[in-house]
Amino acid sequence: MQKENKKVAIVTGAGGGIGAGISKKLADDGYRVVCVDRNFEAVSRVAAGIEDAIAYQVDVTIETDILNLQSELLKTVGAPTLLVNAAGIFFLHDVVTLTEESFDKIIDVNLKGTFFMCKIFIQDFLVAGSGNIINIASTAGLKSGTNRAVYSASKAAVIVFTRSISADYGPRGIRANCICPGLIDTPMANWIKEDTAKFRAWEKTIPAQRVGTVEDVANAVSFLASDSSSYVYGETLVVDGGGIS
Ligand SMILES: NC(=O)c1ccc[n+]([C@@H]2O[C@H](COP(=O)([O-])OP(=O)(O)OC[C@H]3O[C@@H](n4cnc5c(N)ncnc54)[C@H](O)[C@@H]3O)[C@@H](O)[C@H]2O)c1
Repeated sequence: MQKENKKVAIVTGAGGGIGAGISKKLADDGYRVVCVDRNFEAVSRVAAGIEDAIAYQVDVTIETDILNLQSELLKTVGAPTLLVNAAGIFFLHDVVTLTEESFDKIIDVNLKGTFFMCKIFIQDFLVAGSGNIINIASTAGLKSGTNRAVYSASKAAVIVFTRSISADYGPRGIRANCICPGLIDTPMANWIKEDTAKFRAWEKTIPAQRVGTVEDVANAVSFLASDSSSYVYGETLVVDGGGIS
């Protein structure tokens, strides 16, 4: 039985900036949030500040970690109805010098991790006859950018992966959509703020005239999680202050 009949949402990368913001918003929307991250200290801190949230240490690149999470949830809070994949890594790189190991790291977390989470929890959704998946990609997956070729490719792959699972499982009650944030003010984006003048100048180049916040992304997740978006399937929602418009 689900506690107090609350619907259960899983958020990966919940120990980080965007995942934490999404977790808070979904709790406000009435979900019991399962906060998942490979960094247990960070995710425990986030979950402790959210009503009814639970923290789990899961590395999304390890399938057995996720299978353990799935069976643990079935024994405790019940199967999830919503899966938000926000775990991700980013670092600047040059294709010529990027090692195979670093290439694998980016693809493993950003693409394979999203694949494993979807693969396993789609099974619960199929049993229930419904479910909702929201994958956090990036505007990097929609356009060129310097020193991020493999990160961008991983996010482009997440976008088309999401569209494809929407086509495969939409007819069986599962919605899947993507959010593409632009630059969002989290630790992942700290590198760009090192040059304050350049950063302020960049902000003035986009229609919204400011960097994005985790709340901007969380509000988009809240919409895609809600029945207000019940006819939205396989969509890519850009949340970037108009940067690529
Ligand atoms: N911050 C931005 O400007 C921005 C822009 C576009 C897209 N994004 C995407 O949004 C998502 C969240 O980014 P963020 O800014 O909150 O970054 P963040 O670094 O603050 O958080 C990422 C979280 O993912 C976790 N994580 C990394 N590898 C993992 C693994 N193997 N298993 C489980 N957890 C793992 C980290 O521990 C961290 O807590 C990422 O997918 C990122 O690519 C971020």
